Amino acid sequence: MTLSALVTGAAGGIGRAVAMRLAADGFRIIATDMDEERARTVAEGIPGEGHTGHALDVTDETAIGACFDAAEAQGTPVNVVVAAAGILILDETGQRRPITQTSTQEWELTQRVNSTGTFLLVREYLRRRTATPAPYARFIAFSSVAAQLGGYRSSSAYIASKSAISGLVKAAAREAASLGVTVNAVAPGLIDAPMLRLSLDPANDAEIARSIPLNRIGTPEDVAGAVSYLAGPDGAYVTGATLDVNGGYRMQ
Ligand SMILES: NC(=O)c1ccc[n+]([C@@H]2O[C@H](COP(=O)([O-])OP(=O)(O)OC[C@H]3O[C@@H](n4cnc5c(N)ncnc54)[C@H](O)[C@@H]3O)[C@@H](O)[C@H]2O)c1
Repeated sequence: MTLSALVTGAAGGIGRAVAMRLAADGFRIIATDMDEERARTVAEGIPGEGHTGHALDVTDETAIGACFDAAEAQGTPVNVVVAAAGILILDETGQRRPITQTSTQEWELTQRVNSTGTFLLVREYLRRRTATPAPYARFIAFSSVAAQLGGYRSSSAYIASKSAISGLVKAAAREAASLGVTVNAVAPGLIDAPMLRLSLDPANDAEIARSIPLNRIGTPEDVAGAVSYLAGPDGAYVTGATLDVNGGYRMQ
């Protein structure tokens, strides 16, 4: 039996690495992103058969329902969901806007994509797994080291939206446990992916790396490895957790 994994934000730096890694683990990938062409390009670039690409705006609950309908049309449930889609809004110079200069629109859009988008996904997923239980039922959300540290480059809106994820996974994990579903988050540190590059020039990587105990910026594959663990058999007894993938940048 081939298990399936639906990945949001799959055309992004980390989302693509997650899609590639879960495919290598044997999952059939449903790659989704805002833009259908980019999602399809990711799906077509994944080795193996059966991977598909779809447009999915995670703020659109009707579209989320339709995407699950399409993914489960053959009667095969979505086993794993990875909610990697996210946004960070900075000013034109790549700096975080102070709270005093943050518009309500920026605040609400950031919550809408990062936290409400994750809520809409886990809600739809749990509704479906309540109706039709599935083996290896795992939901993996994305928090951030920024939520844990108050952020250096990230905005207050982003930090708040990612803090919401840490609470949401605990609430969802408690409710989902009786369904045999685990719900966890990964909290990446500084990862060499587009969101980090909004504010960090690669020329400054070596200096920044000195503040990271493992002395390097992380890779999307580092994060994908953690997602693979949570999605795979070895992660079966982990739920309600936020797994740090940050090179020791922040230790609990
Ligand atoms: N890169 C880092 O250093 C870092 C650190 C901590 C957390 N994260 C988190 O990891 C995840 C991936 O980050 P990344 O660096 O790969 O960023 P990225 O910008 O490369 O990828 C984000 C993807 O989300 C998609 N997206 C944006 N809004 C969407 C929406 N409404 N619906 C669906 N898709 C949408 C974008 O099109 C993009 O492909 C994000 O949740 C981010 O917050 C990243």
